Amino acid sequence: MGIVFSKVAFAYYRPRKKQSVRFVLEDIDLNIETTNEFIALVGHTGSGKSTLVQMMNALLLPTEGKLELLGKTVTPTLKLKPIREKIGLVFQFPEYQVFEETVAKEIAFGPKNFGMKDLEQRAKEAAEVMGITGLLDRSPFTLSGGQLRKVAIASILATNPDVLILDEPTVGLDPLGKDDLLKFLKNLNEAMNKTIIVITHDMEVASKYAKRIIVLNQGRIVYNGDKKTLFAMDDLLEKYNLNYPNSVKILRQMEAKFGVGLDVNQHSVSDAYAEIVKKFGETDEQ
Ligand SMILES: Nc1ncnc2c1ncn2[C@@H]1O[C@H](COP(=O)(O)OP(=O)(O)OP(=O)(O)O)[C@@H](O)[C@H]1O
Ligand SMILES: [Mg+2]
Repeated sequence: MGIVFSKVAFAYYRPRKKQSVRFVLEDIDLNIETTNEFIALVGHTGSGKSTLVQMMNALLLPTEGKLELLGKTVTPTLKLKPIREKIGLVFQFPEYQVFEETVAKEIAFGPKNFGMKDLEQRAKEAAEVMGITGLLDRSPFTLSGGQLRKVAIASILATNPDVLILDEPTVGLDPLGKDDLLKFLKNLNEAMNKTIIVITHDMEVASKYAKRIIVLNQGRIVYNGDKKTLFAMDDLLEKYNLNYPNSVKILRQMEAKFGVGLDVNQHSVSDAYAEIVKKFGETDEQ
C-alpha cells in the first residue's frame, strides 16, 4: 500500500513515431512504504529526480509500466485528491506552487482544498514550525527565494500528509535554517513515522539524515539501498561522480596516513569524532 513502480518509463513527449521517444526515466522498479522511510534521492542534474517524484503524487503519469499509489493503479481517471492528501510534494521551484494573495492563505490552501477544518490554526502552526509567522500577512510574491521555499514547505506541513516529498528543500536556506529543517524532518520521521523523501545534491544531507539512498543516473536507478553499503562502493561512487560525505573523506585520509584500522564509514561529524577518539585513544593507552 505504498508507492510502487513496476517497469515504469516516462517521456515528456510522445511523438507519432514510437522509436524516436526520448524517455527521461526507464526501467524504474521501486517500492516505497508510506511509513518510517527516510530516503535521499541523489543523482546528477538532469538525471530525472524531479520527474520521478512528480510521478509519486501523480502529477505525471507513466508512459509505460505500472505505478501504484496507496494501493491504486494510477490511470488518467483515478481520483487524485485522496492521494495528494496523503502524499505531499514540495516542488523544486516553489514559485510555481504559489498563487494566493497572502502567505496565510497560501499555507491554508492545501487544507482548504482537502476539506479540512481549523484552517487558520493549521496555517499558524505550520508557519511556526518553519519560523515564518512574521510573514503571514505578506504577499507571497514579495518574498525572497528562501522565504518562499519555507512557505511552500509550510503549506505541505499544514495538510499533514503521511509522505512528504521535498525537491531540493535546502536550496536558498542559510546553514542554520537548513539544519533546522532537516532536524524537523528527522523528528517527523522518528516521532510520527512519516515517510520523508528528499532530493538533494548534498551528500552530507544524504549521509547524515537518510536511512536509504536512491541514486539516479540518466533516468535509471543505479543504486537503491542503505548508505553504509553505498559509501563503501568506491567504484560506483567514482563511476557516477558522487562525493563521499566529509566525515568519510577525512577518515579515509587519516586511515591512509596512520593505518590504525579506522572504520571510515561514519556519516556524521560526531560519529567520525567518536571513531577517531576510539582508535587514537586505544593507541595512546598501549
Ligand atoms: N517539462 C519538461 N519538458 C520536457 N523535458 C523536460 C521537462 N522537465 C524536465 N525535462 C527533461 O527531463 C530530464 C530529467 O529532468 P529532471 O528535471 O527530472 O532532472 P533532475 O534530476 O531533477 O535535474 P536537476 O538536478 O537539475 O533538478 C532532463 O533531460 C530534462 O531536460
Ligand atoms: Mg530537479
